[in-house]
Amino acid sequence: MKLPAIGFGTYQMQGEQCVTAVRTALDAGYRLIDTAALYDNEAEVGRAIRESGIPRDEIVLTTKIRGRNHGFDEAQEACRESLRKLGLDYVDLLLIHWPNPQNDRYIDTWEAMVELQEDGLTAAIGVSNFTPTTLDRIIAKTGVTPLVNQIELHPYFQQEKMRELHAELGIITQAWSPLGRKSDLLTDPVLIDIAAEHGVSTAQVALRWTIQLGNIPIPKSTSAARIQQNFDVFSFELNEGDMLAMATLERGTLSSLDPETSEVL
Ligand code: A2P
Repeated sequence: MKLPAIGFGTYQMQGEQCVTAVRTALDAGYRLIDTAALYDNEAEVGRAIRESGIPRDEIVLTTKIRGRNHGFDEAQEACRESLRKLGLDYVDLLLIHWPNPQNDRYIDTWEAMVELQEDGLTAAIGVSNFTPTTLDRIIAKTGVTPLVNQIELHPYFQQEKMRELHAELGIITQAWSPLGRKSDLLTDPVLIDIAAEHGVSTAQVALRWTIQLGNIPIPKSTSAARIQQNFDVFSFELNEGDMLAMATLERGTLSSLDPETSEVL
């Protein structure tokens, strides 16, 4: 399965604003759209896709099984419910949203997703926010490696160890919060200098950095101008000096959620 180099995220987008944003993203050229049962906007995302007129097989649509639906039967029903809300016959990528290791039901969930893939309800399966332990465990128990692991990743949280592990296991890294939401990443002096050098914005620098490291960023925006700007990251290239300067920016996670301990339902 081929995945686009950049996707469009829809976390915290609701109602008509969500429909408009996804339509704007599709019109701008995005072909990877990322939603989740937890975002409560699958109906809007599905409507935007159907109304876009773009052939369904040209769009890669991701949704996610939420924590409260972990378990074999629960996950199967949750996928069918997502498809009903989306108004679609299949998704392209179905992810486990959080491992919730304390509940210890993510292996049953994964086994259900293997069957959903065999039945054609999803073209591919993957995970999100999985750690080395939870990744190793689903692979060891089922023999099935996730296509992707979608994790927090931006220049302030570079996830070097997880990226190395993914490379060893042949897992694609998708980056959530690639713009470092709730931080001052986009006004960081290092990014400002690099952006000026290339005549682009700091957001474009952050996204380009993620892509050049071999990851797929999933930025989100509700502004048409920023949706278009974030897609315009293929007409310039960061040089070795830029990449080295950005490698020094590591600070750690910006999230209050820890995939080792947090339960996200
Ligand atoms: P807005 O919807 O007003 O554009 P992240 O994906 O890292 O969580 O960050 C998303 C946030 O970054 C959103 O709040 C979005 O706000 C903002 N954002 C998205 N694209 C840009 C951009 N090109 N420049 C500045 N802010 C942006």
